[in-house]
Amino acid sequence: MKKFFALIIAALFLVMAPAQAEDLGVGLEDISAEKYNVHIEKFYATLPQAKGEYKSRVRPILIEGAMNTETEILIRALKNPVVYRELNYLFVAGTYKNYPVVIVRTEIGMANAAASTALAIKKFNPVAVINQGTAGGHDSALKIGDIVIGERSFDYTAFRSAYSAAGAGIDLTKQENIGTYAYDAATKKFQAYTEYSADPTLFNIAFKVANANKNFNAVSGVIATGNCWLECVDYINFLHKKYGSSCEEMETNVAAQICQNAGVPFIGIRVLSDNVTNTRGYVPTMAKTCQDFVLLVVEDYIRDVLKR
Ligand code: 5AD
Repeated sequence: MKKFFALIIAALFLVMAPAQAEDLGVGLEDISAEKYNVHIEKFYATLPQAKGEYKSRVRPILIEGAMNTETEILIRALKNPVVYRELNYLFVAGTYKNYPVVIVRTEIGMANAAASTALAIKKFNPVAVINQGTAGGHDSALKIGDIVIGERSFDYTAFRSAYSAAGAGIDLTKQENIGTYAYDAATKKFQAYTEYSADPTLFNIAFKVANANKNFNAVSGVIATGNCWLECVDYINFLHKKYGSSCEEMETNVAAQICQNAGVPFIGIRVLSDNVTNTRGYVPTMAKTCQDFVLLVVEDYIRDVLKR
């Protein structure tokens, strides 16, 4: 009899253990990135796969994150999640506060952000797009964990350098921002944009959420995008001074560019995982803070703008 109870308890423990492990999610500093990713891939694999095309009476809100740490909280917040895959990008559609929401894992970098945003716009026809995740600070007044509500973004790698002759050395501070090309509905042409501004309605809602929730330290700022990771403080200070950049990351400006093409309202919201202007740390688990904040923005957007 004793053995029988021991077996039952052991079986119960085995059943409970994975559920507990899953709840750990992000925020667990000692879990190695690889271990975390294996664990989260398993969780994503448990979600139901879509059968057929996406159908929704109303246009969903699209939220983007590049990595598992930047999408897990959002995906777990969805009711009735269903997985779609296009070109191996992961899209999870469900509802949040009874409104359709799609989360896309864009993967890291500019080309991936552009491709997955374009695919998501075609497939889901979103009413608004929020690109969010981690970033590196360009402003020494900002700490790891602070949130930048992107009033605008730009591509800090889209520049023409000044001419200098062979042997004259490299000086990247002599440059002109030449922008990236996107569609302008007024002229019906693609034109260069040296920056993309956030949709004012999304921006105002994000700002209201920041004011109403003082547990987040959120400021409005400028997001600098590039396929780079800068650790050269002089160069960062140069970008901060010349362009007013608050932080750098690898996706926002291209997602904004694709949304400009499609005429879809857009905002980028980023949390600092690192800020080499004042510390040498990197805390990618700060991605949780950004997702928590974005969910509040989405809730207010659904209620106050979409009136649902
Ligand atoms: N520089 C560039 N990208 C960063 N990210 C976080 N911090 C930085 C930084 N200092 C984000 C990028 C990319 C991933 C590497 O993390 O957006 O998705």
